[in-house]
Amino acid sequence: MPIAGIYGPEDLSHTAMTRAKQPSRGGPSRALPMPPVAWTPEIERETAHLYERVKTVIPPVEWPTMAPYVKAINDLKQERNAVILAHNYQTPEIFNCVADIVGDSLQLAREATKVDADVIVQCGVHFMAETSKILSPEKTVLIPDSRAGCSLASSVTGEDVRLLREKFPGVPVVAYVNTSADVKAEVDICCTSSNAVQVVESLNTDTVIFVPDQYLAKYVASQTDVKVIAWKGACEVHERFTGDELKMYRDADPSVQIIAHPECPPDVIAEADFTGSTAHMINWVRDNRPKRVVMVTECSMADNVQAELPEVEFVRPCNLCPHMKRITLPKILDSLVNMREEVLVDPLIAAKARRSVERMVHLKS
Ligand code: 13P
Ligand code: SF4
Repeated sequence: MPIAGIYGPEDLSHTAMTRAKQPSRGGPSRALPMPPVAWTPEIERETAHLYERVKTVIPPVEWPTMAPYVKAINDLKQERNAVILAHNYQTPEIFNCVADIVGDSLQLAREATKVDADVIVQCGVHFMAETSKILSPEKTVLIPDSRAGCSLASSVTGEDVRLLREKFPGVPVVAYVNTSADVKAEVDICCTSSNAVQVVESLNTDTVIFVPDQYLAKYVASQTDVKVIAWKGACEVHERFTGDELKMYRDADPSVQIIAHPECPPDVIAEADFTGSTAHMINWVRDNRPKRVVMVTECSMADNVQAELPEVEFVRPCNLCPHMKRITLPKILDSLVNMREEVLVDPLIAAKARRSVERMVHLKS
């Protein structure tokens, strides 16, 4: 069914402007000397096995600019007892050569509860690092660039959620994990793109408020009988795709497979052969091995899957996430050398937010 309504900040009576809260920036502490990052025959030899993983997507001429950082980061991870959690949108050299755990938002949240390390370096965006901190408060969580935000996370505040509750008393609120800790602290449960329908249906209610992604809300509403009241947020990357653009690929090759992320607008989803989270999209390609596939999501994901499956031809209607792209090898190295930028969440907010995230994580699939 269509969504039951859609609201934005202008539809609520705010007492104060609380939008666009900046993420916290931790200061340097316990700094180590910066390791040398020169390309040498020794570095070439020691990183050759890693280059093998990415040679189909990273030209040989670029590898000497990356390999010294890869080696230094991997060495420092041991010294710091650190693990790198990387989202599927990270660039191939990060995803394949320095990450310990890769995945979609749900997989990364689940792994954050299990990692046996003192330090988590989150290669992704700020809400992902906050989620790790919420779930593992005793660990030091670092993000290589705390300006790595998200248009969805910045579109809604905790106050917005409180006002929505006043407008729709008794209606449970589901927050997409692409939200700040403040928002997570105010809602009943979180969800990701891989479990949004399941989370909404788990509440045994006829209506839910779903923040902040209007397109994911529309996708959920199309898959369930529960009435969905949506928020006016959107992903600045996925909202740029259009159904007409996809029709052009289909016209050029009727056998092409099109797979899309549910943050895309409905006309895009309507053109897709499959819709799912980033991990579900990757699994779909692994399982189906299409000859040619259009991956309707952030660009780097096609590169990462291409590195694993060189026989599949990826058509790339490329939209970059500028926030994900703030994370680079030099910044990851700086993070480990200087132990920055530390992600901190107010313990009272973290305790409330943890309930919503853990309720999702513990949902039986
Ligand atoms: P996934 O949970 O599907 O990885 O999505 C996260 C995200 O930010 C997509 O834009
Ligand atoms: Fe946020 Fe969109 Fe970037 Fe994902 S791709 S982090 S939803 S802006």
